[in-house]
Amino acid sequence: MTIAYLNGEFQPLEETRISPLDRGFLFADGVYEVIPVYAGRLFRADAHLDRLERSLASIRIADPLGRTGWNTLLDGIIERNGGGHQAVYLQVTRGAAPREHGFPGSVAATVFAMTRILDGQPQILPINAVTRPDIRWTRCDIKSVALLPNVLMRQEAADASAAEAILIRDGLVTEGTASNVFVVQDDFVSTPPDSPHILGGITRELIKELMSSASIECRDEPVTETALRAAREIWVSSSTKEVTPVVRLDDKPVGEGVPGPLWERVHGLFQDYKQRLMRGDAN
Ligand code: PDD
Repeated sequence: MTIAYLNGEFQPLEETRISPLDRGFLFADGVYEVIPVYAGRLFRADAHLDRLERSLASIRIADPLGRTGWNTLLDGIIERNGGGHQAVYLQVTRGAAPREHGFPGSVAATVFAMTRILDGQPQILPINAVTRPDIRWTRCDIKSVALLPNVLMRQEAADASAAEAILIRDGLVTEGTASNVFVVQDDFVSTPPDSPHILGGITRELIKELMSSASIECRDEPVTETALRAAREIWVSSSTKEVTPVVRLDDKPVGEGVPGPLWERVHGLFQDYKQRLMRGDAN
């Protein structure tokens, strides 16, 4: 039985009830985070909570818990769900109020958390991807729960037997529907720079740090659709996918059509990092 959290109470997820007037339900008026937990230890909790604070501030919801409150909630949900490997989901909405588009008066935000208990560490398997025009808004740096374009584009990928859609805006790669993108060109790696068109991924930051410490050159620079199609390797990254190789793009092989040598190295660095995290030697 998964234990969830709603507005100060831990309770079984199946018994957790939210008002139909919640603005998250009516307007997607809220933000979220997904934080991996390896052997009971949170992956980069501060970076995730920094981003949650930025998302809340961007949509003008006052932080309902503060840093200490969030840390207590996280510890509580991990422990009540048995430690181990998990993916904790946090969501804050503007609360429940009669349906008016403008902000309601003094309404308490809704704070919800749940977790996915994993049998083991995520299995990273090569995936196929497709490209799609990026039909989203221009504040993709906010981790908003308004994910309808992402849902539709991800389903289009699934309809084409692919696990992810890589999005193109004005001839440039932005990101995946739920991931950031890296491409290997010649002997260096590129990833689209931070902008309002992408979510600054916490996993992407770690991968950049790991590459830097291993002297693998990674450039934050615009990646054209042409460069994507010519890439020797393509990887996507996220809290749940870690660093995943893309072996086919729009039904054509990427490079040799198998995970590339640079991915092997970076995946190895990521697994080493997780070992250090689980021993308490990294955060
Ligand atoms: N999504 N870009 C988008 C649009 C995302 O939704 C995500 C993650 C990322 C990667 O961010 P991070 O490395 O911090 O997880 C990039 C989560 C996992 C989700 O929606 O389930």
